[in-house]
Amino acid sequence: MRPPTPAALGLLLLLLPPPPGETAKKATPCKRCRELVDKFNQGMVDTAKKNFGGGNTAWEEKALSKYEFSEVRLLEIMESLCGSSDFDCHSMLEEHEERLEAWWLRLKKEYPDLFEWFCVKTLEVCCSPGTYGPDCLACQGGSQRPCGGNGHCSGDGSRQGDGSCQCHPGYQGATCTDCVDGYFSSLRNETHSICTDVDECAAETPPCGDQQYCENVNGSFVCEECDSTCVGCTGKGPEQCKECVPGYTKESGQCAVGAGWNPLGKGQRIHRPRWASLRRASRLLAGAVLLCFPAARGLTPDASVKLRPLPLFSNEMFPIFGSLCASEL
Ligand SMILES: *[C@@H]1O[C@H](CO)[C@@H](O)[C@H](O)[C@H]1NC(C)=O
Ligand SMILES: *[C@@H]1O[C@H](CO)[C@@H](O)[C@H](O)[C@H]1NC(C)=O
Repeated sequence: MRPPTPAALGLLLLLLPPPPGETAKKATPCKRCRELVDKFNQGMVDTAKKNFGGGNTAWEEKALSKYEFSEVRLLEIMESLCGSSDFDCHSMLEEHEERLEAWWLRLKKEYPDLFEWFCVKTLEVCCSPGTYGPDCLACQGGSQRPCGGNGHCSGDGSRQGDGSCQCHPGYQGATCTDCVDGYFSSLRNETHSICTDVDECAAETPPCGDQQYCENVNGSFVCEECDSTCVGCTGKGPEQCKECVPGYTKESGQCAVGAGWNPLGKGQRIHRPRWASLRRASRLLAGAVLLCFPAARGLTPDASVKLRPLPLFSNEMFPIFGSLCASEL
């Protein structure tokens, strides 16, 4: 492919139509410069591959090694810099084409970082990383580690901003080295400060109520209500109950009304007032008598009758009744 001449390229730029409506927000000069440099560097990567493709004859190899520093390669890179409808990019490129060419042909060795040379030193639209504002002053906390590495420096790398720090969650202070409430300092030396979230839920006295579970979040904690089938719980839902409310038993890990007991049918849960009726009380009494015999003989619930109709007598209760009954008999 025959590369276009610089003149043709210039003409092409002039003839390109303006963008179809200025919808995109106007980028700052620094941002545009940075984008241009990023594309330029990408162009260098892309064209670098050409060194290794297809060059078989001695003549081609020689031509390719020449290509590496050639104007032909520069033009190929330049061609890839701006999107076809990116007017700002094209006008910027047009304005600074000669500078880029000078860098490419003569200054690249001395200033290998194109961003530093082009955007910071030459056009003066950006600052080096860690510096801000018209005079590129060091950010709060120094240009090496702005904001202690725990925040964003206002205007970092641009000619704007005031160099103040916007700290990441958990950090505060002018240089983001102090911890906010709910965080504790887990490391601090001359250069580094690390704040770590306090796990309030792990405290010796749990911060939530008996019918709540504790959830640790960054900088704080929340207490959430247990499932209505639980007496105390370790988390959300009927699977996380510590114990079940009367009328419910642990069934495949969650508190549920036993299938044989539930007049509404399997899967539906009902709430009953405790000890609400005489009928229920008498049924419990009858159950206790029935239970005595197998329990006193040390039979496990599985081996004896199903205790499902007597939800009060959970498996944990069985040994208690066992010894109780044994002493009575
Ligand atoms: C401070 O702590 C950081 C993180 O552990 C470590 O990398 C650094 O070397 C320490 N600096 C000094 C001066 O001790
Ligand atoms: C808590 O902070 C860590 C680290 O800062 C973050 O990765 C995580 O997403 C945060 N979690 C929440 C719930 O905000």
